[in-house]
Amino acid sequence: METTWSTFPIWILFRCGIFGHKSRITISLRAKVLIWAVLCVVVVTLVSAYAISHMQINLPFSHSATRSNVRDMLMEIQVRNTTVLTPRPDACEACFSHNFKYVIDNDVMCKLYNDSQEIDLIILIFTTHQHQKERNAIRQTWLNYTNRNKANIRYSFLLGEVLDENMRKLVEEESRIHNDIIKEDFVDTYQNLTHKIMMAFKYTITKCPHAKFILKTDDDVWVNIPGLLKVLQREKMILQTAVAGACFHGANPHRNPDSKWYASFQSYPHDSYPGFCSGTGYVTSNNVAKKIFEISKNVPFFHLEDVYVAMCLRKLGYRLYKIAGFNIGRPPFDPCLYKGDNLITSHEVPSEMLISYWNTTCTRWKPHFLV
Ligand SMILES: *[C@@H]1O[C@H](CO)[C@@H](O)[C@H](O)[C@H]1NC(C)=O
Ligand SMILES: *[C@@H]1O[C@H](CO)[C@@H](O)[C@H](O)[C@H]1NC(C)=O
Ligand SMILES: *[C@@H]1O[C@H](CO)[C@@H](O)[C@H](O)[C@H]1NC(C)=O
Ligand SMILES: *[C@@H]1O[C@H](CO)[C@@H](O)[C@H](O)[C@H]1NC(C)=O
Ligand SMILES: *[C@@H]1O[C@H](CO)[C@@H](O)[C@H](O)[C@H]1NC(C)=O
Repeated sequence: METTWSTFPIWILFRCGIFGHKSRITISLRAKVLIWAVLCVVVVTLVSAYAISHMQINLPFSHSATRSNVRDMLMEIQVRNTTVLTPRPDACEACFSHNFKYVIDNDVMCKLYNDSQEIDLIILIFTTHQHQKERNAIRQTWLNYTNRNKANIRYSFLLGEVLDENMRKLVEEESRIHNDIIKEDFVDTYQNLTHKIMMAFKYTITKCPHAKFILKTDDDVWVNIPGLLKVLQREKMILQTAVAGACFHGANPHRNPDSKWYASFQSYPHDSYPGFCSGTGYVTSNNVAKKIFEISKNVPFFHLEDVYVAMCLRKLGYRLYKIAGFNIGRPPFDPCLYKGDNLITSHEVPSEMLISYWNTTCTRWKPHFLV
């Protein structure tokens, strides 16, 4: 018999006398039985493994799924079953109007103090009534560059309405002191942040039309203003048709109701989002804000504000533009990083940390002939 690589195992078995008596090598009966037994076990194992793996595919849930996966799937099926009749459409005719009333509007925010003044940037900071300490920390630190809303950079804290009478009074008082709060009469909840961004765009378009660029951020974010101004200067053309920041092009809805970013099948029936730029800090131009506000009338409400903005952008044919330096997390503190050109935003910075960062100067040693 010709022995090639493919017939070699058979040749071995033949020579060992497994198949017959014409064997050169003689082996005992016991050894033959043993070899046959091993072969049988191998074959049975392979066949059953194959069968099991195919059976699992036909089961509703694979056995390898973790308990929480199974729970998620059950919930998905439940949600799908009860709400499949009215999923959110991708577009509509005039189905989303932003018609809330200002409770506090500080018109002085975008006032020009002389004929040659311009507003390069307006910073819109999402906050809640309770976060007075956070607002004060920001006012004392990186908002210093706005010179209390008299410089070429302006800012405002954005609020919705709350039931707590005492909280309302405190915020009114705070607004009288700082003149830096905008508040409308929608209920201020996480589910309503899309109303807040629409308020932000509406305010910018109508009361701050001369502001060239807009930064949306949160009250737990470090913003490196000098670094940001350089980015705006560098990307000013792109920002006429884009929103920029820590942007992601592929993202999937979270279907677990326990998730902070949960989206039901009803609220979003597709498997992936058009992407988004993280709400912790994104910039755009007045032009884009205006276009988003206009098109939003035909884009049904969706509660995740940064995703909603991306939905409007897609409809406009505009884009998400990723810029290095916008961080969704908090890079380890280094004053030369936080005050240099390579970091624009840092997230989840508690107010005490913000103040201590601000007070730490970058004193990296340089050879004295470079100073
Ligand atoms: C799914 O919907 C059908 C028909 O409306 C209903 O009979 C069934 O009980 C529902 N199942 C679940 C798990 O909600
Ligand atoms: C106008 O305001 C800008 C910004 O505050 C300032 O730099 C400039 O000197 C002012 N010009 C006059 C004429 O006051
Ligand atoms: C805040 O800004 C002013 C000028 O606008 C400057 O004189 C002052 O030193 C700044 N304060 C801090 C703590 O950086
Ligand atoms: C969002 O705001 C609207 C208008 O105030 C209110 O009717 C609604 O209950 C709010 N939604 C949530 C989830 O808070
Ligand atoms: C830290 O910064 C705050 C606000 O800018 C200032 O009031 C305070 O004096 C500073 N503290 C130190 C120790 O530098």
